[in-house]
Amino acid sequence: MTPSLHEHASACAKVILLGEHAVVHGQPAIAAGLPEALQLRATRLPDRSAPLRCVIPAWDLDFSLAEVSTHPVARACGDVISHCDGPLTGWRIDGTTAIVARAGLGSSAAITVALARLVLGPGVAVESVIEASMVGERVFHGTPSGIDSEVAARGGVLRFVRGQPPEPLTLGRPLALVIVPSGVVRNTAQQVAKVHHALERWPTVTRPLLENLGRIATLGQDELLRGDVARFGELATMAHGLLGALGVSSPVLDELCAVARSHGALGAKLTGAGGGGCVIAVPDGPAETLADVFRARGLQPLCVEVRA
Ligand code: MEV
Repeated sequence: MTPSLHEHASACAKVILLGEHAVVHGQPAIAAGLPEALQLRATRLPDRSAPLRCVIPAWDLDFSLAEVSTHPVARACGDVISHCDGPLTGWRIDGTTAIVARAGLGSSAAITVALARLVLGPGVAVESVIEASMVGERVFHGTPSGIDSEVAARGGVLRFVRGQPPEPLTLGRPLALVIVPSGVVRNTAQQVAKVHHALERWPTVTRPLLENLGRIATLGQDELLRGDVARFGELATMAHGLLGALGVSSPVLDELCAVARSHGALGAKLTGAGGGGCVIAVPDGPAETLADVFRARGLQPLCVEVRA
């Protein structure tokens, strides 16, 4: 039978609440899915032998699988489709999203998860979708921990330890967040390499930093389960400091966190690989009021409510 695609598929974006980078080194992390963040729609091309084309205007993406040798996104997507025995020709895939790409919100995991679902269909086991997504994630990021693919596929709020099944968490109350994209693009693999380098250069200092990020993730999880958003916010700010010590923050991210805190946020930290991308701030009061502070600076914050 000629391989085919399902008509629609979607995936979550992700926001890492605590534990990024440390999770690569075996520590726990807590992450939440932002539901339906990427929607893909597949249509047949009139020419069944033309290479599959993928167009996501919000991410400035328009590539075909003829470009796999020169276009890393085309290569990652081609590898995911091949892994799932899907069609490499005769289809066009259009994507819509409100999430910024390459900003720590899991855009690469979202596209690989949604693509795997387009091929495998809605009834397939989530583990198969995650396995396929990881094929693409390795093209994008080298040796990712897997947290992004887990959250993009499963959604909800997860505690994740590398190599173990994720644990879904039920929060004591919804967590309002203001996500602020810095506008600075960064490269996850380079950011992860910085931490590996720090571990080699200063192991006795770097190892405890990673362990403390893991401890913060576990304490933060307890506060989220209890519904104590203020204490979660304090821990988020501490985590940002340790991530800075690891070398993965930046002056822009530090400034955005400081702005959030000076306008009453209960805490703020970078999210994802850092170096650019986004910060998350925990508002003390209406999220839109805090978001307005960033809008006044020409930024485009996103207010979300994490619940599970
Ligand atoms: C990237 O979203 C999260 C990192 O911890 C890398 C990973 O877990 O693979 C920085």
